[in-house]
Parts: sequence; C-alpha cells; structure tokens
Amino acid sequence: MTDAHAAARGVGVVVVAAGSGSRLGAGTPKAFVHLGGRPLVAHALDVVARVPGVTSVAVVVPPELADASGPAWAGVRLPPSAVVVAGGAERTHSVAAGLAALDDSCDVVLVHDAARCLAPVAVFERVVAAVRGGAAGVVPGVPVVDTVKVVDERGVVVATPDRGSLRAVQTPQGFRRVVLEAAHAGGGDATDDAGLVEALGHEVLVVAGDPLAHKVTTPDDLAHAERLLVGALVIPPPPEESP
Ligand code: C5P
Repeated sequence: MTDAHAAARGVGVVVVAAGSGSRLGAGTPKAFVHLGGRPLVAHALDVVARVPGVTSVAVVVPPELADASGPAWAGVRLPPSAVVVAGGAERTHSVAAGLAALDDSCDVVLVHDAARCLAPVAVFERVVAAVRGGAAGVVPGVPVVDTVKVVDERGVVVATPDRGSLRAVQTPQGFRRVVLEAAHAGGGDATDDAGLVEALGHEVLVVAGDPLAHKVTTPDDLAHAERLLVGALVIPPPPEESP
C-alpha cells in the first residue's frame, strides 16, 4: 500500500480465473466453461458488479486470454473499474498478480474464486463488514457435515478432529489491503489467502458462508450449479385457481 492510497476507503476485488480446470475436463480453462450459456467468470463478475463500495476490480485469467477478446469472452460484462491481467502457474501467483493491478482507491481487498460464481452479494457484504469492523482477515465458512480424519502417508488415521470446530471455507475472503500485501510479499504458498495471513500471525475471523458459494470443480459440481441457476432464475408461476 502506497501513500497514494493510505486514505482510500474503497473495496478492491481480485477475481482469480486463471486455473486450467483439469478436474473439470472440459478442455477450456475452468472459468470460461459455460453455465447457463455464459462463462463461469461472467456470472462471478455480475455478482461483483452488485457489491456496494467496490472501486477497483482485477480479473486474473490464463495468459492466452489476457487480451480480453475473442469467443471465450462472449457474454462477459467487465465492470467499468475492471482490469484484466495474466495469471500464474499457482493460484497464489494469480492472486499476487491481481493484487498488484488494483488501483489506489481501496483499503480492503476481497479475493474471490471465479469458480464460486454463484456466491451471493450478501456473503461479500458480510465479509467487508467484518473487515471494516476491525478484523485483519475474514473468510466465509460453513459447518462440516462429514466426520473428517487426518491420515498419515499410509492412509492410517492419526486423528479425528472435533467436527463442531471445523468449517469448510469459501471465497470471497477479505483482508485489510496492507495485511494481504504483506502476506503475499512473503512469497509463500497456500491453498487460500487466509493461510498466508495466518502464517504472519494475524487473526482470521470466520463469518457465515453460503451453500451457493460452493466451488465448481468436477462435472457433477457444474451440473449442480446449473440446477441452482435454474432454481434461482425460474420462479414457477402460482398454480391456477380452480373455477
Ligand atoms: O484449482 P482451484 O479450483 O483450487 O482454483 C480456485 C480458483 O483459483 C479458480 O477460480 C481458478 O481459476 C483460480 N486459479 C488461478 N490461477 C491458478 C490456479 C487457480 O487463478 N494458477
């Protein structure tokens, strides 16, 4: 964070969409796979555009798509404040590229997976409110329904954590900008940004997530997202009253 944005009060959003999507097996980068006729990243950006207070958006995509043109981009509406940047080999590199591309208008940064394209605006608002409330880092989370085992390299169970203390965490994850920049400056790697922030010794708060924020990873996830989208958009008409 430079002096230029030390007094900023806006929210920046890094939308990471540079993954290959090998587990989805669509032959297209995952964020550009279609859901309801439009790329996943298009849905994610539609939600971001409705989040109050957003002043800067960085969309991080595979390098071959970073010119933001061509058929892959059909149906994507970029918010006016958005810039498009090339991602890296690991998610952490992609987030760092997006973070560096945000302008000076924001002091809070949200990092969001394009693959969680149906995460509701309310989740974004909860995360921003908790960061504004003083938390260094905030993640949305949902209770874990399965019992989770920790195993060793032979597959033998070495621990059974208390399920009541476990949360499956989602995105958007929110941070004070200075905290996230310091976490990424360390050059470490983690499967989420909160992991890097925790490693610096900051407290990370969990707020309520939402089942709609589930991540599209496999073909089954995509089919599930299609059903959710249809359920959200097509409200059945009331039954005809009998005469
Ligand atoms: O691979 P995974 O499902 O964990 O990716 C989560 C999000 O991170 C996806 O939206 C994906 O596009 C993004 N990602 C990225 N750059 C990478 C790997 C993943 O932007 N190198």
